[in-house]
Amino acid sequence: MSDGWHPAIWRGTPAAQQPDYADAAALSAVEADLAKADPLVRRDDVERLRQLLAEAAAGRALLLQGGDCAETFAEPDLAGLGSLFDTLAEQLPLPAVTIARIAGQFAKPRTVEGRVWRGEIVNGRDDLEPDPERMRTALAHSRAIVGKLPPRLFTSHEALLLPYEQALVRRSGDGRWWSGSAHFLWLGERSRQPDGAHVAFAAGIDNPLGVKLGVIEADELRQLADRLDPHHEPGRLTLIVRMGTMIGARLPGLMRALRQDGRTPLWVSDPLHGNTERGGARKVRRMDAVLREVRDFVAIARSEGVHAGGLHLEMTPEDVAECSGSDEGMGWTSACDPRLNPRQAASTVRAFVEALSQRDAA
Ligand code: PEP
Ligand code: CO
Repeated sequence: MSDGWHPAIWRGTPAAQQPDYADAAALSAVEADLAKADPLVRRDDVERLRQLLAEAAAGRALLLQGGDCAETFAEPDLAGLGSLFDTLAEQLPLPAVTIARIAGQFAKPRTVEGRVWRGEIVNGRDDLEPDPERMRTALAHSRAIVGKLPPRLFTSHEALLLPYEQALVRRSGDGRWWSGSAHFLWLGERSRQPDGAHVAFAAGIDNPLGVKLGVIEADELRQLADRLDPHHEPGRLTLIVRMGTMIGARLPGLMRALRQDGRTPLWVSDPLHGNTERGGARKVRRMDAVLREVRDFVAIARSEGVHAGGLHLEMTPEDVAECSGSDEGMGWTSACDPRLNPRQAASTVRAFVEALSQRDAA
């Protein structure tokens, strides 16, 4: 993409949330091996996803993206996840583009008993020294998952751990750089600084990109869009709104600013991350707040003349009780944030669809 871009371009730029590896030689050895590994995904599928996301951005499809907040190296229930996506997709009035948060969502900084656990790909819950060998394990585990993933699901994760992401960049015959680590990568609310390392990295890879939007001004969003999508490519940019009760104050101005710039990104709602409260040691998410954000999102998109393009959900096929509200399940197994159980995910999609149909009726 951008001239002069190369996969190490982020080095020397401030990089949020990177681990300090004590053994530089061990880190380099892992990076060199990963750089020679087969990519996890196929270039053709990455391009196919970009085209599907362009359809969604044009208002002809809807994105359903979801899965665990943080994966571990345990075996996921892929059949369960596939049928959860199918059930949710059936509720939608338009074709669904389905992307799982899977096969790479391992780098998730969180505090466990006062100490920073950066996720399975970096360190262990009980062994907090960052170990580059874990990147190899993450790649092998991801490869096993990709081999068994239902074909209708694309893969995605937050592109947080830059040494890993850099090592998995590949160059196609036409000279374009792309990431073999997932079909879709996103930048988090805490790592999307326009002048930061993650944006410098993501700008040069050809995969469709997401950006989480919590607290952000219109000028900063414009800068981000110019860096990440200078050519206004259909399907390139998905903006994932996670604003909680601030959505009414913040989102209309952002949608307007990009429309004035002639941009039509795909706008989707993540109604979980802006509705996270502290409840003792654990995080709490209330279903009424989640459903309210979904309805607000659709209503704001309607009044701004923007397609409400879908949902990004933390969800699991397990019958858990991690988000509170009606219809609770059986307990807590999340390795990080509270997830929707299948009934709660279905209620969230139903609220979205009902809000959309109010638009059609209006
Ligand atoms: C996440 O998606 O798990 C996450 C941490 O989101 P955000 O960057 O929006 O806080
Ligand atoms: Co999360």
